[in-house]
Amino acid sequence: MSMWSQETQNRAKEIISRYPEKRSAVMPLLYLAMAEEGHLTDEGMEEVADWVDLTPAQVRSVASFYTMYKRERTGQYLVSCCTSISCMLLGGDDVLHAIEDESGVPHGETDAEGLLSVEHVECIGACGGAVAVQVNYELIEGVTPEKARELVRWLKKARPESVNTDEMQELFGGVKSFDWGIKEEDAAVGPYPAFQPLGTIKSAGDS
Ligand code: FES
Repeated sequence: MSMWSQETQNRAKEIISRYPEKRSAVMPLLYLAMAEEGHLTDEGMEEVADWVDLTPAQVRSVASFYTMYKRERTGQYLVSCCTSISCMLLGGDDVLHAIEDESGVPHGETDAEGLLSVEHVECIGACGGAVAVQVNYELIEGVTPEKARELVRWLKKARPESVNTDEMQELFGGVKSFDWGIKEEDAAVGPYPAFQPLGTIKSAGDS
């Protein structure tokens, strides 16, 4: 019997139906398991294994390979700062330290309230807009230490229900890699990638 809510089970069925092989759904279902419990537990991985007809060891081997599958409880806002070469050359370490200092949360940790988690990450594909920071995987480019502090203060004070890349870029960003010219309406509702099938997205018009 499933430990997941009926809504999560319905999502799992819908996601699995998109693939010719059940096992191909292992990665989105790992995100579902995270969203269901707030982080990835042994029980959550066993549940995924049941759904996709893999062994728990096979599921664990996938989950342990990718850093975006969090084995420990993550705050409402996951702040990720890139410290790879392009960002490092333009002050990525200073931005990370500003985030740590303003939040009081060292990288790899979550505050006691469960509001903020901080991490440094390898290149997130926005090298032309270094220094790159993400909140719940929503990107902000051209971030300075001062703007990073403002970002942390905003998250703590405003506690937005969802975070949107364009809004945060406007408030806390600087030079971008390039401008898509299309406004991004969708927003992330938790420390997971914002994907429609996972229910981790807030779209324009959602109440
Ligand atoms: S090095 Fe930071 S986004 Fe590529």
